[in-house]
Amino acid sequence: MIEMQNLWYAYPSGQTVLAGLNISIKRGEFVALIGQNGAGKTTFLKQLNGLLKPTSGVVKIAGMDTSRVKTAKLAQKVGFLFQNPDHQIFLPSVRQEIAFGPKNLGLPDEEVEARILQAAEAVGLTAVLDENPVFLSKGQRQRVAFASLLSMRPEILVLDEPTTGQDYRESIEIMEMVRELNEAGHTIIFVTHDMELVARYARRIILLRQGRVVVDGPVREVFYRPELLTATGLLPPQIVRLALMFGENSPLGRVLSVEEAYEAIVGWGGVAHDRCG
Ligand SMILES: Nc1ncnc2c1ncn2[C@@H]1O[C@H](COP(=O)(O)OP(=O)(O)O)[C@@H](O)[C@H]1O
Ligand SMILES: [Mg+2]
Repeated sequence: MIEMQNLWYAYPSGQTVLAGLNISIKRGEFVALIGQNGAGKTTFLKQLNGLLKPTSGVVKIAGMDTSRVKTAKLAQKVGFLFQNPDHQIFLPSVRQEIAFGPKNLGLPDEEVEARILQAAEAVGLTAVLDENPVFLSKGQRQRVAFASLLSMRPEILVLDEPTTGQDYRESIEIMEMVRELNEAGHTIIFVTHDMELVARYARRIILLRQGRVVVDGPVREVFYRPELLTATGLLPPQIVRLALMFGENSPLGRVLSVEEAYEAIVGWGGVAHDRCG
């Protein structure tokens, strides 16, 4: 679905931000892109919908070379949720905002209406469809931006820190929606600083540092090589750190969640089960 071949990118100001990336992402993957501030994550994401074009090398989306196709064509394949929702909300009502993409696709009115209702329902905005987004909370505006994405039904969803500014419950709600989309076959790439969310939702981690890939692999493998994370100022989730404290032969195994740890302990012989009732 996504191919980066020896991708280099420098902003016009001259600084090289992406340095020779070779990455291939298949349909239906759920990828977390992580790394410190300034590592190049947002710049990486902007390559995926043609907002930025490679300085050298190639980026292909579903076989389309981003340097050769129109950004509007890529926008049908790749939905992009910006870090700041206010960068993508322009219209005076939630309804119009959600309708904008499908209308641009030239869909018939009934289809546009159906998509508005479905997207609003999915993000819990049905009650505020006729409000002006300006008067909504930041969390709600993030949902408006997300619903605008959903109404386009893009195959690839690119989410730049989608849970920033949301409380815990809202973060989980957003990520559950993303998970459902992934289960329906959409390819997901998201940036986050929250390693608990990575453990819970992603299946693959790409760790960037100064525009290069430090490690790219399954979440479980990457989190159990903590030296790679700590070298970039990140810590694995707490449950992973706990398992790591036991060393090589951790009785917990390479767990990624409290649920898995619980199952591992129950597996010791039902002791925990008896005690916990
Ligand atoms: N529009 C821009 N013009 C010039 N430099 C930029 C621009 N946007 C980002 N940068 C620089 O590119 C580097 C990577 O930024 P970014 O991709 O935003 O990283 P991240 O999202 O990982 O924090 C930073 O050093 C940043 O200062
Ligand atoms: Mg960023």
